[in-house]
Amino acid sequence: MCGIVGYVGKQEAYPLIIGGLRRLEYRGYDSAGVALGGEKGLRVYKRRGKVDDLETFVEKKDVTGTIGIGHTRWATHGVPDDRNAHPHLSHDASIAVVHNGIIENFRILKTDMESRGHTFLSDTDTEVVAHLIEDVRNAAGVPFPEAVRLALKEVVGAYAIAAISADDPDTLVVARKGSPLVIGIGEDEYLVASDASPIAEHTRRVVYLDDGDMAVIRCGAENPEIMAIDDGVSHSPAIREIEFKLESLAKEGYSHFMEKEIFEQPKTIRDSMRGRLNPKTGEVKLGGLSDYFNKLAEAERIVIVACGTSFYAGILGEYLIERIAGVHVEVEYASEYRYRHPLIRKGDFVFAISQSGETADTLAAIRLAKEAGAYAFGICNVVGSSIARETVAGVYTHAGPEIGVASTKAFTAQVTVLSLIALALARRRRSLPEAELLRLAKELDSVPDKVAAALETRSACRELAEDISQLRDVYYLGRGVCYPVALEGALKLKEVSYIHAEGYPAGEMKHGPIALIDENMAVVTVAPLTEVHDKILGSIQEVKARKGKVYAIVTEGDTETAALADRSVAIPQIDELFVPFVAVIPLQLISYFVAVLLGRDVDRPRNLAKSVTVE
Ligand code: G6P
Repeated sequence: MCGIVGYVGKQEAYPLIIGGLRRLEYRGYDSAGVALGGEKGLRVYKRRGKVDDLETFVEKKDVTGTIGIGHTRWATHGVPDDRNAHPHLSHDASIAVVHNGIIENFRILKTDMESRGHTFLSDTDTEVVAHLIEDVRNAAGVPFPEAVRLALKEVVGAYAIAAISADDPDTLVVARKGSPLVIGIGEDEYLVASDASPIAEHTRRVVYLDDGDMAVIRCGAENPEIMAIDDGVSHSPAIREIEFKLESLAKEGYSHFMEKEIFEQPKTIRDSMRGRLNPKTGEVKLGGLSDYFNKLAEAERIVIVACGTSFYAGILGEYLIERIAGVHVEVEYASEYRYRHPLIRKGDFVFAISQSGETADTLAAIRLAKEAGAYAFGICNVVGSSIARETVAGVYTHAGPEIGVASTKAFTAQVTVLSLIALALARRRRSLPEAELLRLAKELDSVPDKVAAALETRSACRELAEDISQLRDVYYLGRGVCYPVALEGALKLKEVSYIHAEGYPAGEMKHGPIALIDENMAVVTVAPLTEVHDKILGSIQEVKARKGKVYAIVTEGDTETAALADRSVAIPQIDELFVPFVAVIPLQLISYFVAVLLGRDVDRPRNLAKSVTVE
């Protein structure tokens, strides 16, 4: 949700900032801008649209300077236009600010400053911060970095900001409270960004700024000066190494990141299991949970909080953990959980599932659980992310950077980790016979190969996508473990193709949605062989009886179901509990191909952002 980049050093800042913004475009892409500083004073260029539009706009403009900040926006306050694009300037145009997050008290601050003669050029909350820094600097007569700190003490809300000042042309100031910020330390240069992806090609040494901290970054200084926003007390930075490989940030011959990430899944699922599952003995080791595992194994209930695709992985976690380990699981939308005054008992176990580890609602839900005395655990993909750091224990999914906004490989990696947790708990709790656990461990180990086979449905999915691309509405039906798969399939289709799609439990069809079935309505039925297969056949018949079109995902060899459907895609046979891994693959492929056929911006669908750091 908005990407921030900043640079201070000896090189020209502009190309580095633009390169960084391209990497962060997944976070928002309705406008982009840069502010460049140095000898020639502050220059701000910003434009509605994508980073490419900004580049066209600045052609022939003076983009020199060895310090600068940049932004790619996902609008919260104010429509996405040139005026509301970041960076924003202070009243005297001496300070430029980029911001990711929401300033909750911006109206009060704005009215107060307006009464003292400030005029504002945008509708954004961010511009208020730029003005406030100038206000504090003039009133208190303090240097620019201290003015930023004092101004932020007056700000209520969530933010990551980067600011530069014409009066202090070698200094970049960044701060975070609730939104991520990473500082890359190079040779005589620093590159800051909302995540490590723009930094990785320049340096592997990074500092993940802690919540409530700010950094004063001076060209030539050996390290950034890190201090608490509250009291200004400095502390030494914890320097870490970036873990992921640069190749993971390239499309590597695929047309889109979404396509690449779908096809990467045999590898990413294997990576999620690596060193954790021993299929010969059935043993599961989850190092990140080991300190708390004894307590967790005695849990009476586990609560899972998540949003979007991660929420659907959570529902699969519920099926897996209840069925395999016999522990009661509740899954909640993080956005609801945080506001519905949930009953949280001291010692409860609350898992947050989040690809980015930054989703504001999920983070807030986990904080609420912690305050109530629960053990907060994380299942995250991004190493060092806020949720990973704010939970007492957890498991990384190790899917590698996911760039496509619509989540694919992160989902299957989350389900892998949940399967591992279910197996680990089951062994400890002796909820299933040893031989059955061993069989399930072997079956889980076979998932990457089965997913590779499921990816061979590519051409069949491409053909089916032609049909679906003509439709206005599609239902996705599933039952048992295939119900969350249907939900995820519908979400994927609407995210990337903008076709209206709804996931529904097949058994609920007759309680309302069936009223919509006629010859213009199509239903994608996730119908592989499971214990509820007969029931799904019943649902297919009900749709057909009302002349609806049926597209079915079936198990290889199940000619009966395939014959009932207008079109079908056959996936490999696997134990029922792990069917979701293979059943979701054609649904991801279908959504991808529909989006391509309709000419959609597959990796950056309209109105979405990969990391939703606002409520
Ligand atoms: C956004 C993304 C979704 C994602 C959801 C939760 O809505 O567009 O793809 O599933 O956030 O994100 P998280 O990073 O917490 O898994």
